[in-house]
Amino acid sequence: MTDQSGTAKAWGGRFAEAPDRRLEAFNASVAFDVRMIREDIRGSIAHARMLGEQGVIPAADAAALERGLWQVLAEADAGDFSLTVTDEDVHTGVERRLREIAGAVAGKLHTGRSRNDQVATGLRLWTKGALLALMQGVLDLGDALADVAAANPGIAMPGYTHLQRAQPVLLAHHLLAYVAMLERDLDRLDDAYRRCDVMPLGAGALAGVTYPIDRELTRSDLGFAASFANSLDAVSDRDFVLDTLYACATIAMHLSRLSEEIILWATAEFRFIELADAFSTGSSIMPQKKNPDVAELARGKTGRVYGNLMALLTVTKGLPLTYNKDFQEDKEALFDSVDTVLATLDVFPPMIRTARWRTDRMADAAIADFSLATDAADLLARRGIPFREAHEAIGKLVASCIAQNTTFADLSDAEWAAAHPVFATEKPPLTAAESLAARDVPGGTAPNRVAAQLEAAQNTLSRHRATVTERETRRAEMMSPDVDAAG
Ligand code: ARG
Repeated sequence: MTDQSGTAKAWGGRFAEAPDRRLEAFNASVAFDVRMIREDIRGSIAHARMLGEQGVIPAADAAALERGLWQVLAEADAGDFSLTVTDEDVHTGVERRLREIAGAVAGKLHTGRSRNDQVATGLRLWTKGALLALMQGVLDLGDALADVAAANPGIAMPGYTHLQRAQPVLLAHHLLAYVAMLERDLDRLDDAYRRCDVMPLGAGALAGVTYPIDRELTRSDLGFAASFANSLDAVSDRDFVLDTLYACATIAMHLSRLSEEIILWATAEFRFIELADAFSTGSSIMPQKKNPDVAELARGKTGRVYGNLMALLTVTKGLPLTYNKDFQEDKEALFDSVDTVLATLDVFPPMIRTARWRTDRMADAAIADFSLATDAADLLARRGIPFREAHEAIGKLVASCIAQNTTFADLSDAEWAAAHPVFATEKPPLTAAESLAARDVPGGTAPNRVAAQLEAAQNTLSRHRATVTERETRRAEMMSPDVDAAG
């Protein structure tokens, strides 16, 4: 058998044998957790500063650690530093490189810290950044939908239940329903952010540390809103990842519903929308085809995003306190869901903005198939007829029209009067405009109500936008070596 020995590890002191290469390959997370290298290094910088400030290590050592860590970060940013499987994970890899740069002092960085509070800190920092990016993406899509709504204020389309034409609604009303979903998504992301915004440093491996640390220094340095209350929970809580995965799953579900409508609307049967060539694909065999692949892929990717949530719920369900290596499985699920949803949110806004909305087709369809039947029944009910009786009368009228292959528009005065005496003196709405205007209740589809909705939605989106921008600015400052507090 060939030698299968791997490379000595940071924890190797008590081991007589080198790790087996197969263990090494199976155990390593470096291939994926390298994505949080900036957050890992920044967490270490805060820890080193605090150790120096508190006199746990000499100030000169703390300064040397900080200098070395910024250099590792610069190398990583420039692509000059690569980690290998022998580094095990990003945390030990960064420490290895720090030792190459700064020498033996690198060994002091891990004073009063464990990889358990370190990984929780880095992952929380990374997740906060991801949540901000997700909020940006949701805002971009919300803006695109709101802009299309604003550009098409009076356009009627069929509203559906059971995918059967039901009552006319405004296209803007329909689009704003998706904006309402996205507003809730923003709330969910914000909520996930709030719970993610807790610093675990100082928990050590699990029980706290024996050094006179100052958590307030590291907390404010890293821009966390709070510090942990319980060290055992600090190293074993992955709720913040689950919150993020759930928020991603719900966004994916909303995008999937929108996708389904886009796919339907782009069919020859509907023809409510025509996607721009730049956001459509062709067929390798059928020259005439123009396919809505973006929407189909978004719908399809939803499965994977749901799967990631289920995966981590299952990973965490049987874990005793505190840290267990199972937690290493949190990252690929998290990264994949964030990547997948961000990719979808990147392509959707331009696809929506460049689509041609066939408002002529929508308007024609809006009042077809007796979509104004409820309005006729409502008129009878307003004149004192019990609604059930009104419903019955209009149902019969619809049936007789279907039998004669006519519509309400074709009915003579005598036929209206025969349907119900009220109609001898007063006709129900026969246009979409009348029908829409009648639904003048808060949240209804009347044009004035939809205009109010649009304005409220635009205000909500810009309020979220301001919060995200402010957080992004503070984060960029925190992550930048130019604004360091080294002195
Ligand atoms: N790579 C590990 C993870 O992702 C880091 C923490 C390792 N901690 C430990 N006690 N082995 O969870």
